[in-house]
Amino acid sequence: MEFRVPFNRPCLAGNEYKYIAEAIANGQASGDGPFTRRCHELLERELQAPKVLLTTSCTHALEMAAILLDCGPDDEIIIPSFTFVSTANAFALRGARIVFADIRPDTLNLDESRLQSLITKRTKAIVPVHYAGVPCEMDAICCLAREHGVRVVEDNAHSLFARYKAKLTGTFGCLSSQSFHETKNIICGEGGALVVNDPEMVERAMIIREKGTNRSQFFRGQVDKYTWVDIGSSYLPSDLLAAFLLAQLEGRQQIQTKRRRVWEYYWRHLQPLAQENLALEKRVRLPVIPAECEQAYHMFYLILPSLECRQALIAHLKEHGILSVFHYVPLHLSAMGMKFGARECPVTEDLSSRLLRLPFYNDLTEDDQAQVVGLIKGFFDVRD
Ligand SMILES: Cc1ncc(COP(=O)(O)O)c(C=O)c1O
Repeated sequence: MEFRVPFNRPCLAGNEYKYIAEAIANGQASGDGPFTRRCHELLERELQAPKVLLTTSCTHALEMAAILLDCGPDDEIIIPSFTFVSTANAFALRGARIVFADIRPDTLNLDESRLQSLITKRTKAIVPVHYAGVPCEMDAICCLAREHGVRVVEDNAHSLFARYKAKLTGTFGCLSSQSFHETKNIICGEGGALVVNDPEMVERAMIIREKGTNRSQFFRGQVDKYTWVDIGSSYLPSDLLAAFLLAQLEGRQQIQTKRRRVWEYYWRHLQPLAQENLALEKRVRLPVIPAECEQAYHMFYLILPSLECRQALIAHLKEHGILSVFHYVPLHLSAMGMKFGARECPVTEDLSSRLLRLPFYNDLTEDDQAQVVGLIKGFFDVRD
């Protein structure tokens, strides 16, 4: 079905076609060509990271992280239940036990106040997800991790260029993962990156990404032939994708400015729905951005009064050609998640059943946003 206002639309930053033509002319369409190198350099400079490696997806960056940490059946990994499947699946693939944590009611991020009780002798890592581009409470998470000798791997899929207390997300953990999937701020269709903040992990990360071979050492002239030295897989994207991605990364300021405008429009114009004097069954909750966080403007969501209300609003918007979507189905209640044992995550269960994401993309016009906002206000019979 065609929507007049889709939920997402991939938007160009400017130089995508030019760079792809250059990549084809370069004669290297496979991975680690000149455009991949330029993306690496740009991200390493921006994030001040010892190494950034483009990957075929954020999912694959997380899989690399699980291999780098030598995760296995003796290990437990703490992950919010309210996240995308890949955050957990990457570690489950190595046989690790997933321990699901509940989220904070305000930001929907990992609830740091409940983490301590989940840590055991077997805990190897905590994987905070900076949901919707709003940073987790990294001081508390990193402090607890340090005290217990546990690693932090950040799932930064939503949150490139967000800051917690002025420090960029993705730079707190020993490793972090990025997504450049078409729904994210910076895109190349399908793509991702592993940010390696621990210099001791750099060499092995390059080996894992190159099918477990020391091929990159060979290209650097450090060995005279390359061979199989570790486990790994084919995690590097084509230079054609890196060409597209470089254009996006170079346009990051313009992209972030546009997304900020979209976010702020919703925020300003939806305030009347969040007034405290409204009856609970009519009151909508808007996103909460803590004072110490600079968000990445990844998405705009509403917390609606009930599941029934959400379903009715989705249908109402759909009737008018507007696609709104919900996520995530709590992982601790999924068929696979339940194999790790029963868990209680009441905040996740409640909020995931009431959350609705509104159309959000760089080139979304104010006219289209005005229509979305007007329909939502009409649905609740709320006027300015
Ligand atoms: C929090 C989170 N982590 C990981 C992923 C996986 O990203 P990718 O599609 O790049 O593998 C997603 C995808 O939306 C996500 O939302």
